[in-house]
Amino acid sequence: MTDHRIALVTGASRGLGRSAALGLARRGARVVVTYRGGAEGATDTVQMIQDAGGDAVAMRLDLSDVESFAAFATELAEELRTRWGSTRLDVLVNNAGIGLFDRLDDVTVERFDALVNTNFRGPFFLIQALVPHLAEGGRVINVSTSLTRHVSPGTSVYAASKAALEVLSRSLAVELGPRGIRINAVAPGPTATDFNGGAMRDDPELIGALAAQTALGRVGKPDEIGDAIAALASEDMRWVTAERIEVSGGALL
Ligand SMILES: NC(=O)c1ccc[n+]([C@@H]2O[C@H](COP(=O)([O-])OP(=O)(O)OC[C@H]3O[C@@H](n4cnc5c(N)ncnc54)[C@H](OP(=O)(O)O)[C@@H]3O)[C@@H](O)[C@H]2O)c1
Repeated sequence: MTDHRIALVTGASRGLGRSAALGLARRGARVVVTYRGGAEGATDTVQMIQDAGGDAVAMRLDLSDVESFAAFATELAEELRTRWGSTRLDVLVNNAGIGLFDRLDDVTVERFDALVNTNFRGPFFLIQALVPHLAEGGRVINVSTSLTRHVSPGTSVYAASKAALEVLSRSLAVELGPRGIRINAVAPGPTATDFNGGAMRDDPELIGALAAQTALGRVGKPDEIGDAIAALASEDMRWVTAERIEVSGGALL
């Protein structure tokens, strides 16, 4: 099924964000691809979408710079109007995030703040800035992690920053419901991207250990997360809101 909705995916210069952008575009959405440092990667994502017959544009957005969000929202509205003749965004995917993994004694205020600012504070204020531009019946998808369900040493602050994102998804579902906007969290398990220094893609020992603890017997591929995000944004999932949906192949059950 195709549609002509407009989706915005944060951190779509690579990894899961790129996969989500491609998955949404395959289903017919026009996509705003945001990036922080990876301008080239974002251009590649746009090109991949265009090569497949879709339409996309790249815009810079730093999730840790909440003061820039009002200007970004204005710039976005102008881009939607001039490029696609639209005043509304239909799908917001809060995908961009960082992983810093320290045991208790090693957590610094600087690294704590970086995690919370990028993974929680940024997405919250981006939702606040973009909800006025979201269409009635729009969707917000927040990318969390399976680490909010299972635990391992060195993940406390990262997991807590994502748990906060999950909780705000549930609370905002009630506030946004009257406008028909549904908001959900997708919680990926270990997936082969640049994340965590590329460990889930490049470290055979870690990959083997994670595969052994996963029902489907391997780590995830980026498209398996991107397609789940795109499916959740579809009309087929129109009655789903305030949920946390894990996409992990059955990791650490
Ligand atoms: N891979 C996994 O195993 C896994 C598992 C569970 C959850 N997740 C979550 O999934 C999301 C995507 O992860 P990934 O695996 O695709 O990671 P990745 O390959 O490291 O990509 C991270 C993306 O986030 C963007 N980003 C980082 N900091 C940003 C900031 N301050 N402002 C704006 N964009 C920023 C990056 O943009 P630039 O390249 O432009 O800098 C990049 O596009 C993250 O939220 C992560 O926590 C990943």
